[in-house]
Amino acid sequence: MTQVKKIGILTSGGDCSGLNSVIRNVVFAANSKGWEVVGIFDATDGLFSRPMRYRDLKVSDFDFPYAALGGTMLGTNNTGNPHIQKKADGTTEELTDEELNERFKEGVKELGISALIVVGGDGSMAIVSKYCKMAGISMIGIPKTIDNDAPGTDKAIGFATAVGVVTNALDNLTTTATSHNRIMIAEVMGRGAGHLALDAGVAGFADVILVPEIRYTYENVVAKLKEIQKKGKRFGLVVIAEGVKTPEGKHIFAANGKTFQGVSQYFVEHLQEEGFNVRANVLGHIQRAGVPVPSDRLLAARFATWAIDLIANGADNRVVVYQAGRVTDMDLNMVLKIANTPVDPNGALVKTARSLGIYVGEED
Ligand code: F6P
Repeated sequence: MTQVKKIGILTSGGDCSGLNSVIRNVVFAANSKGWEVVGIFDATDGLFSRPMRYRDLKVSDFDFPYAALGGTMLGTNNTGNPHIQKKADGTTEELTDEELNERFKEGVKELGISALIVVGGDGSMAIVSKYCKMAGISMIGIPKTIDNDAPGTDKAIGFATAVGVVTNALDNLTTTATSHNRIMIAEVMGRGAGHLALDAGVAGFADVILVPEIRYTYENVVAKLKEIQKKGKRFGLVVIAEGVKTPEGKHIFAANGKTFQGVSQYFVEHLQEEGFNVRANVLGHIQRAGVPVPSDRLLAARFATWAIDLIANGADNRVVVYQAGRVTDMDLNMVLKIANTPVDPNGALVKTARSLGIYVGEED
């Protein structure tokens, strides 16, 4: 068994709610073993930049309720190029692969850490794991994403809170929708996965839910909205995942040209032509915010303590996962072999939605 004295933690990829709860619980679980924790700023950038950017994390740091806030107190990065690093004077410098390797090794040595917890996606874990191997320390991953498509785990940190945020937004849109006899469209995040749209759509009593995993026809969207009007319903609620293609099979991109955004506007333009009174709302990054709900905090508690036990037992290259109601762990290489987990078109929630009369696309 390795003699652990000090461990590191970093957050990587898009932020979400619950990251601070993980950080807090890692610090408390490590502290009860008598270990010290250091938080690396801005994913791996804190280790690559000179001077390094990090902070010691102590139990007393959480006298302020960071753990109950969204975002990450360590900062993160989902676009960064590690080869370009900030210098103390604000300018940047370009580093080669070799220099990055050296800086990581040097950083780990200076901090005196024997393990690094990566709270992020499997892509980040894979990258950091290589550096850790080379520096001779272990890597333990904790999955987070509001998209809930992380391979190997039924639940990721941040998803439950995001479902709450979107459900709340749908409730709020409903009041205007019913007051004005309107069709309200909510466009939600999820890249290629529709979990957030599906869960929040059912929780928020939507009439139509479109996800990238299920084929739909524009005609049947219109038919559903006409049907609910005929039944005397004053409003319609449509939830569209950002990764849904237009009926012509095109993705709509945000101005950055990388992330999806704007498919709801396509529907507004076309539904208006059909005579509907319709508005679109792109919920955007508020979906990654909010006070973490208790189930995310509980997941953070279970994942953090599991990660600390893994380190105590000398494990390396493992990812903490939640499967069929239990927390366990998997080898990172196994996780990387599994594709991201999309919505199952024949899954229980899709069936529930159909039983409720929600149009969720075609039954193939
Ligand atoms: O992966 C999480 C996610 O929230 C996606 O659903 C979304 O498309 C993306 O991040 C947006 O990321 P950003 O705008 O921060 O680059």
